[in-house]
Amino acid sequence: MLSTEVKIFDTTLRDGEQVPGCKLNTEQKLIIAEKLEELGVDVIEAGFPVSSPGDFRSVEEISKMIKNTTVCGLTRAVKNDIKVAAEALKFAKHPRIHTGIGTSDSHIKYKFNLTRDQIIDRAFEAVSYAKSFVEDVEFYAEDAGRTENFYLARVCEVAIKAGATVLNIPDTTGYCLPSEYGAKIKYLYENVKGIEKAILSCHCHNDLGLATANSIEGLINGARQIECTINGIGERAGNTALEEVVMILKQHPHLNLDTNIKTKNLYGVSQLVSEHMGIYTQPNKAIVGANAFSHSSGIHQDGVIKQRETYEIIDPKDVGASASNIVLTARSGRAALAYRAKNVGYELTKLQLDVVYLNFLSFADRKKEIKDSDIHQIIETSRVYQEIISA
Ligand code: KIV
Ligand code: ZN
Repeated sequence: MLSTEVKIFDTTLRDGEQVPGCKLNTEQKLIIAEKLEELGVDVIEAGFPVSSPGDFRSVEEISKMIKNTTVCGLTRAVKNDIKVAAEALKFAKHPRIHTGIGTSDSHIKYKFNLTRDQIIDRAFEAVSYAKSFVEDVEFYAEDAGRTENFYLARVCEVAIKAGATVLNIPDTTGYCLPSEYGAKIKYLYENVKGIEKAILSCHCHNDLGLATANSIEGLINGARQIECTINGIGERAGNTALEEVVMILKQHPHLNLDTNIKTKNLYGVSQLVSEHMGIYTQPNKAIVGANAFSHSSGIHQDGVIKQRETYEIIDPKDVGASASNIVLTARSGRAALAYRAKNVGYELTKLQLDVVYLNFLSFADRKKEIKDSDIHQIIETSRVYQEIISA
């Protein structure tokens, strides 16, 4: 019987940090790791220890600092990588080694120049070796998205036999359609012998903008861990966005799937990651973008002012964002102007509003957005100003 709990595996500090020009130093990684633990992620992938002394140090320091969350280090299916990762994780209260190898025909042929059977042997040896250091070993089948399902199931079986506790099924190139990725997870869930001893994990890239949709399809079809990053950052078009998966599950209770994430921390962590990495979050980014709770057209503004839910499916407070924002532009109506004027201290009658609105429109045609200071100016230059302030 599948559990209703979805584990959140955060890879902001490993896959997310692979964004060119966004390298974090150990101190920055420690600041973010502390906030990730507070956010409630189940696993922090802290780095790829063999890749550089800096990454080794980051994994080691994060392992010392983190109390309850599992700390994970990435390796290739190479003995020295695994040994170095185990060394970096030696202070972790809950260490996990994440090892694996490419399984698609193109990886097998062009990257490794091996046969399918040789890849299976490498997978078995890597997981067995990792198991000699830690109990919790996750195996990844790189490019699983383009790996034939029958062969992928064989690789997974061998990884489980060697002791893998989690099977990561990455859509490394972001190629799959949600229906294909979901069918892959379902196939593995139904056909891999021993699958009850491990959980399936979704690790989706966003090259076609489908990372979140694919991850959700994976969950619906039997996966119970999502690998994701804050703000969806990562190589090329990025990874699955943590905040999107978490809020989809929260907004759709009929899926009967839950995470341990404290959603009120989402906005703050998003800002923190964006500042430290120097990556600006696009304004229309779901959940954490600057415009995610902004309304600028008159029809929407009127609806939101009457009842927030008319045009908002998430309460901004639930993700730690400030209240819904009524943006004044030339497309705004009287309701929005009255609302914003009231916020800065002017209670307008219907007749006064009609007059001020005409003044507002000529301002708004000249400016992209009307700020609070502009509202004062608009009202002060309206012929009903004296009447408004003496009321
Ligand atoms: O995208 C991928 O395949 C990966 C693996 C190394 C887990 O990041
Ligand atoms: Zn990846």
